[in-house]
Formats: sequence, structure tokens, C-alpha cells
Amino acid sequence: MPTQSPRPTRKAVIPVAGMGTRFLPATKAVPKELLPVVDRPALQYIVEEAARAGLGEVLMVTGRGKAGIEDFFDRHPELETALEKKGDEGRLAAVHESTEVAQVHFVRQGEARGLGHAVLQAAAFVGDEPFAVLLGDDIIDARDHLLEQMLAVQAEKGGSVVALLDVGAENIDKYGAVAVEPGGSEDVVAITGMVEKPPADEAPSTLAIIGRYVLAPEVFDVLRETPPGRGGEIQLTDAMATLIERGDPMHGVVFSGRRYDTGDRLDYLKAVVRLASEREDLGPDFRAWLAEFVADLPGTGASQA
Ligand code: UTP
Repeated sequence: MPTQSPRPTRKAVIPVAGMGTRFLPATKAVPKELLPVVDRPALQYIVEEAARAGLGEVLMVTGRGKAGIEDFFDRHPELETALEKKGDEGRLAAVHESTEVAQVHFVRQGEARGLGHAVLQAAAFVGDEPFAVLLGDDIIDARDHLLEQMLAVQAEKGGSVVALLDVGAENIDKYGAVAVEPGGSEDVVAITGMVEKPPADEAPSTLAIIGRYVLAPEVFDVLRETPPGRGGEIQLTDAMATLIERGDPMHGVVFSGRRYDTGDRLDYLKAVVRLASEREDLGPDFRAWLAEFVADLPGTGASQA
């Protein structure tokens, strides 16, 4: 039976238990989700995005070596007292932001057995209602209201909704790829199939699943039955493919805004530069320095050297 759910989405699940091998050696001791993008961890942008979209109940799926994440979203009385004594209101407010933005809960994955397995750990927290999944290393620019749009599509059409990005044939083998049909408006498509990391010549399209999902709770029963797939991991994509085969509605919102995969070193650097240059406090000085730096770079056409 297709799900035509009138239940509103209230909860967000953020899996942060992955090993972050693309960012070694830093991630040997620091979770990639805590790497600073300017002066705040990548994960803080993501929790703020969930809260902005009205999802004030957040569950993080953590694992070994990720205790710093729990500390970050917890109070720090000694630090707060020290800042209060100094009268440093600005920094005190910054410290409070992370504890006030949402109600954050934690569950442990135990073993990093894949994204599908991480999401399955949220079953008891989520219960029988649709929920959002935001990947802990994927930043969507705050000016792009992707999650809000996905929640609206889910409320209208029921079932599940995923975020899609056209990554081109040359990159599709790094992502889950989807087969689509028109879905009623320019940037909403109906998804008819999906496959994890296909070779370019077998990909059903160049539309890739990026780190935002609004999922029907039926996905949990399917995940319990999903065997390890690509890379020996329990793949969320495989469970979603089963939902589609069963006839459950699945739509995609095609995103054309700015997104940074901060688990990837090059994308991380781009995120830091872009977001720092747009900041009111740091931006003017940073942009001036950046312009000079770029002008002096060999091989850019800007340098006289
Ligand atoms: P990634 O595909 O980025 O995997 O996971 P990863 O293992 O963390 O990083 P690399 O590829 O080795 O560098 C996407 C999201 O799913 C979480 C990660 O923490 C990340 O937010 N994840 C992945 C889990 O929570 N558990 C897993 O078993 C795998």
C-alpha cells in the first residue's frame, strides 16, 4: 500500500558514525563532522538547518571516537562561567548557540556497517512517522531552502523524498544514481529506480542522491531485511530501491543551489573560503587578502610572474 501520510515530519536523524577515511589523518582523532568551517563545526550548520526547517528534535547516530560531538552539543559550565566573569557576551552567545538550537539526542551505531545500518538505529526514536535524514558532513547553503521544499513535497505527495543534484556522467560513480520521470513541476521528479555508485555507462541518469532525505517510517522494516550490499555495507539506497519496487511513492527535489561535501578535502576547502568570504565580521579583510593572493598565483593568468 502506498503511504499517503498526513503526519507532519518533526524529527531529524543525523548519522555521524562513519570513519571519515577521505580526511585521514585528521579524522584519526577528530570526527570529520567537527572539522571547523570558519569557526564552527560542519555539524552545527546542519543542526541549524534542521531547526530552521522546524525539526527541533534531532537524533545523532554516533560511534567510537565521536565523543567530542556529544561534548559540543552539551553545556560547558566552567567555560560559560569564565566568559561571564570576563563579560565576553559575544563568545558566551556563540557557546550557547550549540546547546539551544535543538533538542539533541544520541544513539550509538556500535559498528560502522553502512548508512542504512546507521539510519536503522533511529527506529525507536522515530516511531511511526516520516523523518528527515541529514548527512553530518553535507552542508547546504543556508540561503537555499532545500529541506523546507522537501518537507512540503512529502506533505503533499506522501512516501519519501530525496535531494538530487546533477553531478554529470564523470562523477556519478561516486553517488547513488536515480531513474526518474516528470513529477509535476520543474524541480520535482518521480523516482522509478535507484542504484548505488554505478559505473557511468550503467547509470540511469546523471542525477545523484545528496545528503538530505525525508523518509517514510516503512523504511525501517525494509532495512531490517536488507543484506549488506556494495562495499559490504548495509546501503540506504538498497532499502529505498526496495520501497520503489513495492510501489511506495518516492520523489526527488532537484537542487541547483550550493552544497559542500565537507568530508571531501577539496570541497571542504571551498566551503571554508566561500563561507569565510561572505561573513560580515571576517569577510572584508579575508576578501582583500584573497584577491591579492589569487592575483599572485602562478598559472591563473592573473600573475605577471
Ligand atoms: P560517508 O559515505 O561520507 O562515509 O558517510 P564515511 O565513512 O563517514 O567517510 P569516508 O567516505 O570514509 O571518508 C555519509 C554519512 O553517513 C555516516 C557518516 O558519518 C556520514 O555522515 N555513516 C556512514 C554512519 O553514520 N555510519 C556508517 O556506517 C557509515
